[in-house]
Amino acid sequence: MFAFVLGFILLTSGLWMQTTAEYMIGDCNLTYFISYGQKCQRQMITNLATNPSTNCSAEYQDEKECLRDHVAVCLGREYHGHINLVANLLLYQLYHCGNVEYKHNAIYGIVLKSIQCQREAFMDTEICWSYFRERLNANRTDPMLCREYAIAKKCMAEKAKANCQICDRLRRDTFNPFCPNDTDPWLQVNDCEHKFVASFLGNTRPDCRSVEVAFKRCLDKRFLTFCPDYARKQRLKDDIQKAVTSFLRGRRFFCSQDINFRTIDLDIKVRPLFPCNSQFLPEMEKCALPLRDAYRLTQNITAAQLCRHFKTAVNCSNDVQATNCKPLVTFLRTP
Ligand SMILES: *[C@@H]1O[C@H](CO)[C@@H](O)[C@H](O)[C@H]1NC(C)=O
Ligand SMILES: *[C@@H]1O[C@H](CO)[C@@H](O)[C@H](O)[C@H]1NC(C)=O
Ligand SMILES: *[C@@H]1O[C@H](CO)[C@@H](O)[C@H](O)[C@H]1NC(C)=O
Ligand SMILES: *[C@@H]1O[C@H](CO)[C@@H](O)[C@H](O)[C@H]1NC(C)=O
Ligand SMILES: *[C@@H]1O[C@H](CO)[C@@H](O)[C@H](O)[C@H]1NC(C)=O
Ligand SMILES: *[C@@H]1O[C@H](CO)[C@@H](O)[C@H](O)[C@H]1NC(C)=O
Repeated sequence: MFAFVLGFILLTSGLWMQTTAEYMIGDCNLTYFISYGQKCQRQMITNLATNPSTNCSAEYQDEKECLRDHVAVCLGREYHGHINLVANLLLYQLYHCGNVEYKHNAIYGIVLKSIQCQREAFMDTEICWSYFRERLNANRTDPMLCREYAIAKKCMAEKAKANCQICDRLRRDTFNPFCPNDTDPWLQVNDCEHKFVASFLGNTRPDCRSVEVAFKRCLDKRFLTFCPDYARKQRLKDDIQKAVTSFLRGRRFFCSQDINFRTIDLDIKVRPLFPCNSQFLPEMEKCALPLRDAYRLTQNITAAQLCRHFKTAVNCSNDVQATNCKPLVTFLRTP
């Protein structure tokens, strides 16, 4: 039963197991358990996003039933007596209408201990959901919901990571019906970055300037969808590009060392996008330099050699980011 709850914490915190090791949760394998269980919350959120005639309480009833059915199928006969207990505990982590509050009891305490989670993983989820819920209740077609849902999920993921010892090897669930292509905005930014980097890993040498122009255009397009302010104010637009580009690797790795600024020079609304200390940018530059030099100076470098440099530089910059930056929980909020 406890492996089951563990699986569900992964599921409901919006996290996925990265490991391919397959283990069973009751009668279900983990893949099936997570992907099917995730459908309960996805269905609720999708209905709220797309069906103006439904409401939160009706959808929550469906979500609860969906979850309970799924729990019942996977727990099977052996753990039949635990279905309600487990389903109720897990419901604290799913999206709800704002009237669900964790109430501790001795049995939850035993379950939590066995899965190495503090009860805080289930408590005060309002901190994560309330801003999204407010906006959702105000207007279900608000384009800002794309960003807010992504932030809320990220917040839940951070909460689970902080309060459970099981979440290190997980990546995020990126499903987001409020965004173009049903995908979290960060993933779309990564998409621009992938294109940028990919153009340097082939056999031809692209010209930095034209790749940078295409990259900025790609970022612009993505930001517009979840950050309307971005389009209106040039200063904000420049600062967001600065902050975001400082984390992305392609530009620094292949083209420009000229990515340097002080947090204090950024617009105050943009500063949360850059939760790093003053060592971050110089250290990133140290990671990038060997690769950039190899790329620039060696006309005859092979793709395989370049790839090796690239992997080293990525590894180095991962460490630098983990050491010098806080996790990016907050994202631009409009006042
Ligand atoms: C997991 O279970 C599902 C449904 O029972 C099945 O279709 C799938 O092949 C299983 N996956 C693995 C890796 O065993
Ligand atoms: C939500 O919808 C259900 C069914 O459509 C309806 O019975 C219920 O009164 C609605 N609740 C609210 C709070 O509007
Ligand atoms: C909801 O947001 C959409 C898109 O911004 C807008 O067109 C619509 O007028 C808003 N509706 C209400 C009731 O504010
Ligand atoms: C959505 O996906 C399609 C195809 O997968 C792609 O061509 C398009 O650029 C994507 N749009 C956005 C905004 O990411
Ligand atoms: C690249 O070319 C130079 C001479 O132009 C040569 O000395 C060097 O060994 C070559 N490097 C590789 C990796 O082939
Ligand atoms: C990445 O760096 C860490 C130490 O910073 C090292 O232990 C690890 O082997 C490196 N991995 C690769 C693939 O270079």
